[in-house]
Amino acid sequence: MTTPAPAARPAPAGPAPGTYDVAAFRARFPALVEGAAHFDGPGGSQVPGDVARAVADAMTAATANAGTVTRAELRARDVVLGARAALGDLLGVDPRGVVVGRSMTQLTFDLARTLAAGWGLGDEVVVSRLDHDANIRPWVLAAEAAGVSVRWADFEPSTGELDVDAVAAVVGPRTRVVAVTAASNLIGTRPDVPAIARVAHEVGALLVVDGVHSTAHVPTDVPALGADVYLCSPYKLMGPHVGVMAAAPAFLETLHPAKLLPSTDAVPERFELGTLPYELLAGCTAAVEVLAGLGDEAADGPLTTRRERVLAGMAAVEAHEDRLRARLETAVTDLGGITSWSRARRRTPTVLLRVDGVPDEVVTRRLAERGVNAPRGSFYALEASRHLGLGDGGAVRVGLAPYTDDDDVTRLLEGLAALRSTGG
Ligand SMILES: Cc1ncc(COP(=O)(O)O)c(C=O)c1O
Repeated sequence: MTTPAPAARPAPAGPAPGTYDVAAFRARFPALVEGAAHFDGPGGSQVPGDVARAVADAMTAATANAGTVTRAELRARDVVLGARAALGDLLGVDPRGVVVGRSMTQLTFDLARTLAAGWGLGDEVVVSRLDHDANIRPWVLAAEAAGVSVRWADFEPSTGELDVDAVAAVVGPRTRVVAVTAASNLIGTRPDVPAIARVAHEVGALLVVDGVHSTAHVPTDVPALGADVYLCSPYKLMGPHVGVMAAAPAFLETLHPAKLLPSTDAVPERFELGTLPYELLAGCTAAVEVLAGLGDEAADGPLTTRRERVLAGMAAVEAHEDRLRARLETAVTDLGGITSWSRARRRTPTVLLRVDGVPDEVVTRRLAERGVNAPRGSFYALEASRHLGLGDGGAVRVGLAPYTDDDDVTRLLEGLAALRSTGG
């Protein structure tokens, strides 16, 4: 007697193509078990278990400095090449131009010092008041050391917009660098970077774009932005704490950062001081794979390259976050008595707000008592905070993330409503 073959079981019903299954996605984040509603993502996101496991796997496998002889050396080499390829797919750039560093801040300081060695009397650099200080101070300090002038592009405080004209007004024939953000980490504004790139390139200036906040929220295409150098930080997009700088390899060849004598002069390694954090690079690859996986779920049909999958994943993240942002902002307007400074036409789901009459620290504390994490501050966008009339203190920042769900937003709104009715 033969045993009948078991009837084929239907595949478990997954989300319908084109949907964003936030519940399934949240289940992948061990940290969310703690129960807090996290609106603190712009400071650093929560991390999926897949990413943490990739870091642990890289640390528990036999390890060595990257090389070409032993299995351990080859493993370390492959981790580096794998991360460059993944980050290249995230940003739409050549992996040979992907530099990894400790943080975006460190990479920008190094870049500014390196570029400043070629500046001369009469040269100028342009920075914007919308930016995080990490894309301002390195340029200001390098300019001071080189004896060149700094010109400031102002955004309009009432709208939060950084107009291209405001940048063009301070760009001149001697501008060497225009440093601008792709999105404000304080109020979410997304300036028209391609238009700013045209202004910079018309006078032969380099465009350095801070993509730290933007990369976590919208699909990124560095060549389409016109950025000569683009920086981001994987820990804002569900990855580990490293910084990334991307540029065309041919451009990087023209730069000569300070380096140790025995370390390689090859690009991009020339810019990477000391031994790379292999385990964190493994985590970067895993984070990009998480985004690509979201693309698979969102797509109507099969996607072939990881770049296509990442773009689809980020488009799904953007749509999900935009829907929640619209819900949040409408409800906040309906509540009344809450001021928001996030007003630009194009913006990320990052809302800077204040409950009228209630000190920001009380708002943050009361929300925390309800398990709602929404910090207050200027978040190092110090110039922007001052320009908005908020001094050095900023306000309360509510940042949505790919794992934010309607329940989180409801809890936040209940907390804000309670603060409105009790006055703190
Ligand atoms: C917009 C923006 N730029 C730069 C940075 C600095 O990034 P890192 O911590 O990698 O130096 C941050 C960090 O909050 C940021 O939000």
